[in-house]
Amino acid sequence: AKITILNGPNLNLLGVREPGHYGNKTLADIQKSTETLATQSGHSLNFYQNNAEHEIVELIHQAFAEQVDFIIINPAAFTHTSVAIRDALLATKIPFIEVHLSNVHARESFRKHSYFSDIAEGVICGLGATGYELALQAAHQILLERK
Ligand code: DQA
Repeated sequence: AKITILNGPNLNLLGVREPGHYGNKTLADIQKSTETLATQSGHSLNFYQNNAEHEIVELIHQAFAEQVDFIIINPAAFTHTSVAIRDALLATKIPFIEVHLSNVHARESFRKHSYFSDIAEGVICGLGATGYELALQAAHQILLERK
């Protein structure tokens, strides 16, 4: 199947950015491990990061045009603000899992609210880079069950 991983703002700085919250792995490390896992499971993976809200909306439209089967998204700060990205996911009806490296429930209270969790297949947070791999495993399972 076709799977797209989308990463929101500041995630290009992983590895140097607040390692206490986000760990030491870089986004390139996460891209590498998820690409390996996707290939092993017979999926094709597109991996993106963008700092701009409208670009993430466009990437979701692109995924729809390319008939992507599943999205894994870490919307980063847009988690707590973006009706536009939520609406893009609702409009395209592409099933998705929401991932956060940090445990958003153990931080500032504004991080507890997500514009995505109620429409996601599932949410993973607090497990660092492993969360992306777990999301990919779950996506694989969901796609098998829906075939
Ligand atoms: C994040 C959590 C968000 O609250 C924050 O704005 C981020 C990263 C995470 O992966 O833990 O940029 O999505």
